[in-house]
Amino acid sequence: MKGVILAGGLGKRLEPLTRITNKHLLPVYDRPMIFYPIQTLIDAGIEDILIVTGGNNSGDFLRLLGDGAEFGLKRINYTYQQGEGGIAEALKLAEYFVDNNKFVVMLGDNVIDSSIKLFVEKFKKQPKGARIILKRVSEPERFGVVELKGKRIVSIIEKPKKPKSNFIVTGIYMYDGEVFNIIRTLKPSKRGELEITDVNNAYLKREQLYYDILEGEWTDCGTFRSLLRANLLAARKIKECRI
Ligand code: G1P
Repeated sequence: MKGVILAGGLGKRLEPLTRITNKHLLPVYDRPMIFYPIQTLIDAGIEDILIVTGGNNSGDFLRLLGDGAEFGLKRINYTYQQGEGGIAEALKLAEYFVDNNKFVVMLGDNVIDSSIKLFVEKFKKQPKGARIILKRVSEPERFGVVELKGKRIVSIIEKPKKPKSNFIVTGIYMYDGEVFNIIRTLKPSKRGELEITDVNNAYLKREQLYYDILEGEWTDCGTFRSLLRANLLAARKIKECRI
């Protein structure tokens, strides 16, 4: 299975840290942020990876990662996103790469301390559709929040003021080739982006959205607080830090 890591955007919420570099190149404990999603995909058996970058200093990804030999990869694929159009807009650039096959997407600022291999295996067996990974968090309003009735997802709302649960959609998504047809039907949201939540809701409407719940730790790095959390998570994982 192929994997796509989305590492574009201007990281405005992390100004001035992101003024002269891309968010995904910032340090998270002892390595650049982008190393974490790369390793997560590799640990799940995904070794054909496309990195979608953009914004400032995108050339630095090539200098940092080269051909991926450091990760034991044969090569890394790169593409460039012009401007800022949201996660679903960035994903469009992966269409030629995945070539109508099922694939896994991970946001370049998501850090976890456990494996997603089991979820990927389940997705492989799933005949079609999408699979998302949920996590229970204490501040759901910053994310895509699911409304559950029993075990069934009824809706996903992006950054709701009044979240209907504590379960959020992490930035790890699995899709079949239909995702590109869905993206073509999307309209920009209030924040002017093609929302990945709209993609997931489209699969939900088709009754083709499956999910797993992540038991291990998860964080994004979109804000100073979550970037700090990612540093602590990474440090604890390598057991070098008792913070
Ligand atoms: C994005 C998605 C959101 C998801 C989050 C996970 O949010 O829109 O649904 O929960 O990633 O990291 P953003 O980082 O664009 O605020």
